[in-house]
Amino acid sequence: MDLFERLKDLREKGLSEIDKAQTEEKLNDVRVKLIGRKSELTEILHSMKDVEPEQRREIGQSVNKVRDLFNQKLDDAKNELVEKLIAEQMAKEKIDVTLPGRSNHLGSKHPIYIILDDLEEFFIGMGYKVVQGPEIETDHYCFEMMNLPKDHPARDMQETFYIDPEDLLRTQTSGDQARVLEKHDFSKGPLKMVGPGKVYRRDDDDATHSHQFMQMEGLVADKNITMGDLKGTLELMAKHVFGQNRQTRLRPSYFPFTEPSVEMDVSCFNCDGKGCAICKYTGWIEVLGAGMIHPNVLENAGVDSSVYSGFAFGVGLDRFAILKYGIDDIRDFYTNDVRFLEQFSREEK
Ligand code: DAH
Repeated sequence: MDLFERLKDLREKGLSEIDKAQTEEKLNDVRVKLIGRKSELTEILHSMKDVEPEQRREIGQSVNKVRDLFNQKLDDAKNELVEKLIAEQMAKEKIDVTLPGRSNHLGSKHPIYIILDDLEEFFIGMGYKVVQGPEIETDHYCFEMMNLPKDHPARDMQETFYIDPEDLLRTQTSGDQARVLEKHDFSKGPLKMVGPGKVYRRDDDDATHSHQFMQMEGLVADKNITMGDLKGTLELMAKHVFGQNRQTRLRPSYFPFTEPSVEMDVSCFNCDGKGCAICKYTGWIEVLGAGMIHPNVLENAGVDSSVYSGFAFGVGLDRFAILKYGIDDIRDFYTNDVRFLEQFSREEK
């Protein structure tokens, strides 16, 4: 077969191979085979030395033509392939703009924080500041400053989670009182503060008790603060939380850091004081502890108790939430079941 016929033959075969190659990989193989260094085309070029000089030019031109044709066809085939791939991909990824969008799942405020935020606003509105003490509290602030020296029997009811002999998970937010009393400059006006936060103490873990819960401490100190101020403040708060028709009453009680001490009851919002299961047929529900700041607490913080007086109160926020929302197990607050929590979400429409 002379070189022209070989070339013609090669051209036909080559074009049909390019036609058949359906992937980029195969196209590359065909490219190497047809125009690579070891291709038949190169071989034909090499064998030109045996050809009559007049024919060389002609053969050379024909080889170039075939190579150009192959190059052209290989490029076309490759472009076609890429376009086909893009078209397939586009068809696969077609977006149906009429489908409804995916909505974000918004969490909801925890019921205890609903109460807490509401109470903070309430007290801020009456000129109180909000303070936040440390959850790991020192024995000094949690007990000693609050008139509970090391041998005080009332410590037994609370002290539990010690980190070392001097530091523990706070059993009450009352230590916040001492922290602010120590720093307050009475020449600038009265001290009015609330201090919310988590507290930890040994307790029965049952439907109404938990070893972790939320308290909010309150304190007002100045000259001439009386029990009347305490009663008026607590009554306003109780009505704000439980409804304007509620009655309140103070009963004598005992706390080491107040003297005299009281507990406050609210008339049962379920039966309006007639007696039901919620108020254990007494018509009243106990909601908080309070009292006039014990002179020792003032003196411990460097405040002259012959000049200044004040009142303090401690609210169990879990208890408030349980009563307000009719929740029957305190553990629901801490087990993070979204079915429970979602009941408190605001509906987004
Ligand atoms: N710290 C008390 C407790 O955990 C609650 C309390 C009662 C706080 C009376 C007060 C108060 O500030 O005056 O049981």
